[in-house]
Amino acid sequence: MGRIALVGFMGSGKSTVGAQLAEKLDYTFVDLDTFIENRTQMSIPHIFATGGEAHFRQCEQEALNALGNQSRGVVLATGGGVVTQAPSRALLKEAWQAVYLRATPETILARVLQDATERPLLQDEHPDVRIRTLMAQRQNWYEEVADVTIEVDEFSVEMIVQYIV
Ligand code: S3P
Repeated sequence: MGRIALVGFMGSGKSTVGAQLAEKLDYTFVDLDTFIENRTQMSIPHIFATGGEAHFRQCEQEALNALGNQSRGVVLATGGGVVTQAPSRALLKEAWQAVYLRATPETILARVLQDATERPLLQDEHPDVRIRTLMAQRQNWYEEVADVTIEVDEFSVEMIVQYIV
């Protein structure tokens, strides 16, 4: 039994692909954001609002650490910014087989601008510019942790799951 972590930007399909992949492999599906919300008893927007992004990253790192120590047979959908922290990148490389779901900015924009209000990092006058900037900053980090990269733009969830299996 392995540990598979899906990494990639918001809207790249980590949670949707992760849940179906886990079902197919008979692994446990864990969504890192939900795991953090359960541990802290706070919603992600509330963590951002009260402690800022730095506090959220700390929670994220601790959650990843806890999962890496305990879990086998897990598919983990990470949050899009997990790779911004060097310790989190090290944990991903050490303890997980990481699959990078890579999408173009156009695909991401089309998907996330619809529900940008629920995403703390997109509370910006120009969320499209913010998305492009964050994607450019993170690109190398996703590649650094990834064992496999999949270009997801043209593929259905089923095809992506099948490819990973
Ligand atoms: C974030 C992505 C979110 C969530 C938080 C920060 C980011 O997860 O962890 O809002 O920094 O890109 P998803 O990628 O699941 O949307």
